[in-house]
Amino acid sequence: MRHLMSPLDFTTEELEKLFCLANDIENNKEKYAHACDGKILATCFYEPSTRTRLSFESAMIRLGGQVIGFSDAGSSSAAKGESVSDTIRVISGYADICAMRHPKEGAPMVAMEKSLIPVINAGDGGHQHPTQTLTDLLTIRSLKGSLSGFTIGLCGDLKFGRTVHSLIDALVRYDNINFIFISPDELKIPDYIIEMLKNKNIPYKEVSSLDEVMPQLDLLYMTRVQKERFFNEEDYIRLKNYYILDTEKMQLAKPDMLVLHPLPRVNEISVEVDNDPRAAYFKQAEYGVYVRMALILTLLELA
Ligand code: CP
Repeated sequence: MRHLMSPLDFTTEELEKLFCLANDIENNKEKYAHACDGKILATCFYEPSTRTRLSFESAMIRLGGQVIGFSDAGSSSAAKGESVSDTIRVISGYADICAMRHPKEGAPMVAMEKSLIPVINAGDGGHQHPTQTLTDLLTIRSLKGSLSGFTIGLCGDLKFGRTVHSLIDALVRYDNINFIFISPDELKIPDYIIEMLKNKNIPYKEVSSLDEVMPQLDLLYMTRVQKERFFNEEDYIRLKNYYILDTEKMQLAKPDMLVLHPLPRVNEISVEVDNDPRAAYFKQAEYGVYVRMALILTLLELA
């Protein structure tokens, strides 16, 4: 039985197979409409979500399966003190596969150890968000045609942004990727990631000015300042509008640079940018359904 805790749980060859399947699903939806007949997905979300939970649920329903779950720890027996281990043992008898989001780093791993069904990490604290990474990789591969040979700028909250940490882990396995980390000092990328890049001799630089590096980028991955991970509200208020991507800044970019964002956005991308053909973040959210459909089929060994 396979689980998904980190994007590194799949080899690049396995990811290639997953992305081909996701593209086939996108183009031949009817072919997969009954692939999961009789199967049940449990979505156990101890933390808020729109895209991840609903795209998982949409994915299972589009495959012909059904969905159970909770979207708030307060409406589950976690509110009475039940452990994640006990919850997953019980859910193993109710569902065939489980997607779990939890505010504590490592909670889905604890669930995985006791689970009798595949568990998917749908985001654990500031640690990892592997299915967002699968979505990001599928978007880049589909819209850019390749997962190699580009300069990517990651901008905003690089300290707490789990999507950024997962994406870097995944991208270092591809050739000729140049990373530019754009953040204020307080929200810099964690040291362990810098150490990993140094050990692998992967080119990177850290800057605070988005304007300065904009012309170099093939991809700009914007992120929200993660309010829920701040200990101090004053710091959040000071940093939340540090970067705002607007049409003026977009004029500095290459004509084929893509803007990605895991969403939700707050202020970091002006709505005026939505009409720019380089704004790919809503298409990215749509790819999230196809890649989760492919993932469910793969983990249930139905692909
Ligand atoms: N990208 C993402 O994880 O969005 P949600 O928090 O809405 O699931």
